Amino acid sequence: ARWLPTNLKVILGVNVGLSILGYIAMASISRTLGDTFIKANLRGIDLNKQTTKRDADGNLVRPIEGIPIPESQGTIAAAVYILLLSVFIPFAFARENLELFPHNEMAEYLAAVLTITFASFMGFADDVLDLRWRYKIPLPFLATLPLLLVYYANGNETGVMVPNQLRWLFGDAIDLGVFFYAFLLILAVFSTHAINIYAGVNGLEVGQAVVIAGSVLLLNIIQLHRIPDQYKNYRDSHVQSIFLIVPFLAVSMSLLRLNWFPATVFVGDTYCYFAGMTLAVVSIIGHISKTMVLLLIPQVLNFLYSCPQLFSFMGIPCPRHRMPAYNASNGTVCNSYAEFKPTELKPLGLLVFTVLKSLRLVHLKPGKEEGSVMMSNLTLINFVLYVMGPCREDVLCLRLLMLQLGSTFLCFSLRFGLASYIFDV
Ligand code: UD1
Ligand code: MG
Repeated sequence: ARWLPTNLKVILGVNVGLSILGYIAMASISRTLGDTFIKANLRGIDLNKQTTKRDADGNLVRPIEGIPIPESQGTIAAAVYILLLSVFIPFAFARENLELFPHNEMAEYLAAVLTITFASFMGFADDVLDLRWRYKIPLPFLATLPLLLVYYANGNETGVMVPNQLRWLFGDAIDLGVFFYAFLLILAVFSTHAINIYAGVNGLEVGQAVVIAGSVLLLNIIQLHRIPDQYKNYRDSHVQSIFLIVPFLAVSMSLLRLNWFPATVFVGDTYCYFAGMTLAVVSIIGHISKTMVLLLIPQVLNFLYSCPQLFSFMGIPCPRHRMPAYNASNGTVCNSYAEFKPTELKPLGLLVFTVLKSLRLVHLKPGKEEGSVMMSNLTLINFVLYVMGPCREDVLCLRLLMLQLGSTFLCFSLRFGLASYIFDV
């Protein structure tokens, strides 16, 4: 490869060593600063635990006497991660002979750090200020531009391979040009938010990120060993991607231990945005952005299913929290609902509601008011509860993570099984 030094194994060893430090630092800083976060009002009450007060119908009334636990611990994860990446720079890029200094690769790396840092900063602002959606969409869009410019400048191609069977028509590859950049921008904005709206169960936010990041790491390692010599330029992009993903996995796994049921900390929007953007960035740098879409299948499904509630113009209400409800009598979590009168929906909302109802994609029960219905909230979490029934919170989290693993298996079998029949890979 162009810039990879001969002692790559040593450098990867340093990367892993720093990551282990990150794993330890994440947990110990969180333990030390927990009270400081609580004092700064960065705290939350676990809504699905005994301390939560429910009325006779099992609806959440108001958390009482719940003991607040530190929120926004993703701030620590992101800070540790960004500092690790800074410390790693001299190991990865310093060369004795300055003429061999890998400026291009370092520019790519720095753009990645800048983009991830901005996303984390926006997450922190969201934790503290509760930003409006009208700001939350364009901001990650702007933050991704430096990375895309570097991608462009480094001559990274924007083509997609054409299946063998269609090559007589389209040629070997189609250059998507500017549309490919549009796709990368949308991927970055989507994945920044996708984790945050697939949340509300202890361990789920970090758990999904760990599964996806683990898959990305595995994919990069496999690719690194499979690449034929004529494509060896791609090797450095996989190595760059590994440099960024290993420390991310380390801080995330450390945070997962603290956030796993029963959670002792919450990760906050900071973690969700930090993780989402990191995954987008490593997939752009590692040239696996199309594969990333497959790894994000649960997040895509959750987003599509959520749309009727997210777009308020349909008239379907979106409660502040759509996480599962808690059944205090047996300690399980069950569906949470949104109540509305179908007759008061906007035409499009009514159409969507009728489709969801007739395809039995939601659980419905009569509402408390005359003519109103209770519809299970439109999240993948609620859908899994509806299909598989109530269970303890950690069991639910495991089921959802199995689903995530399922999309990893699908992704790998398409990538390495099916794809070899239709592409020359
Ligand atoms: C998003 C979801 C919301 C979900 C919430 C849970 C959308 C549009 N928004 O909102 O439906 O309820 O995440 O994170 O889908 N909490 C728990 N247990 C957990 C995680 C969180 O009780 O395992 C509670 C805590 O009180 C915590 C709060 O949720 O303080 C954090 O919510 P926040 O991240 O601010 O919600 P949003 O991201 O706005
Ligand atoms: Mg959140």
